[in-house]
Amino acid sequence: MLVLAIESSCDDTAVAIYDDSRGLIANCRHQQHMLHAEYGGVVPEIAARDHLQRIIPLLDTAFTQAKCNKTDITAIAYTKGPGLVGSLLVGASTAKALSLAWGIPSLGVHHLEAHIMAAFLSEPAPEYPFVCLLVSGGHSMLIDVSKFGEYKIIGQTLDDAVGEAFDKVAKMLNLGYPGGPAIEALAQQAKRTHNITLPRPMLSKPGLDLSFSGLKTHVRNLIANNADAGIEFKADLAAAFEQAVADTLSRKLERAIKQTDYKSIVCVGGVSANKCLRNKLDLTFSKNDVRLFYPKLEFCTDNAAMVAMAGQLRLALGFKDKDLAVEVCTRWDITKIN
Ligand code: KG4
Ligand code: ZN
Repeated sequence: MLVLAIESSCDDTAVAIYDDSRGLIANCRHQQHMLHAEYGGVVPEIAARDHLQRIIPLLDTAFTQAKCNKTDITAIAYTKGPGLVGSLLVGASTAKALSLAWGIPSLGVHHLEAHIMAAFLSEPAPEYPFVCLLVSGGHSMLIDVSKFGEYKIIGQTLDDAVGEAFDKVAKMLNLGYPGGPAIEALAQQAKRTHNITLPRPMLSKPGLDLSFSGLKTHVRNLIANNADAGIEFKADLAAAFEQAVADTLSRKLERAIKQTDYKSIVCVGGVSANKCLRNKLDLTFSKNDVRLFYPKLEFCTDNAAMVAMAGQLRLALGFKDKDLAVEVCTRWDITKIN
């Protein structure tokens, strides 16, 4: 089976080709960061228009990379949701048009399932069951994954997603968009000479839910109260913020592991690229008998390889779109995808 995959849920246009015997044979992506940087976040209309311009050239690049012909493709997987409606429609309509033209099936894939499957693109692949910490720009949740396709949300953010908090704090520090990598880079310059104490939200409450808006407000107040502070203060603040997020997520994961009694954790989504978070989780769980799995860095943020992986697993189980209607879901509950 040779699966062509398209991802266009937000601000990255991506195309991949996956061969179920050889693995990933093409993986290309066009990132729109520069287009959105001046706004400090993604502007949906700009994102959709750029996808439209990029998608066909990117398909050509993918076929050149894969050294295969269009006639070799046996199915097309694309991100059906959740995401921005205009962005999703570009990927979905391209997939449906190719499905009609080439006479092959298409399959709409859930973006969050694709993020989880990103961890299966590397060896060793995670073993079921596991607790998944999914931390991206739009979502932050703890998921009990008993097997492929069986997801139970056991905790989620009550307000901002973790990536969103990174982006907003970066905006306050004038670091541009996306905020996560910018905060990580600034934090690496921290000398930790300022005594900055940040809250670890929701740890005094029982349960697995998360909340990051209070932490964000705390950072905003610190910036306002230290308006004259220089780069050294900002670097210390960036490091303190990363540490607060990492500590909080680590403690919640400890609770999730205790609750489920699982022995594996899979950490995915854009924020899973963060080294401070990875270090904290590695340190915490190396003491326990719990294995940690992450995607390769290039597969943490949005990409089409993860869509190909989720798509080929579902196609092999017999899932496919029932007709050629272009349908996307801007909101889509991951527990209701089967
Ligand atoms: O998964 P993703 O590419 O898109 C969504 O599905 O939302 O995640 C993007 C988010 C952004 O908020 C970005 O700031 C964050 O992931 N991010 C990071 C890092 N790289 C990306 N956050 C912290 N550290 C990073 N290295
Ligand atoms: Zn994503």
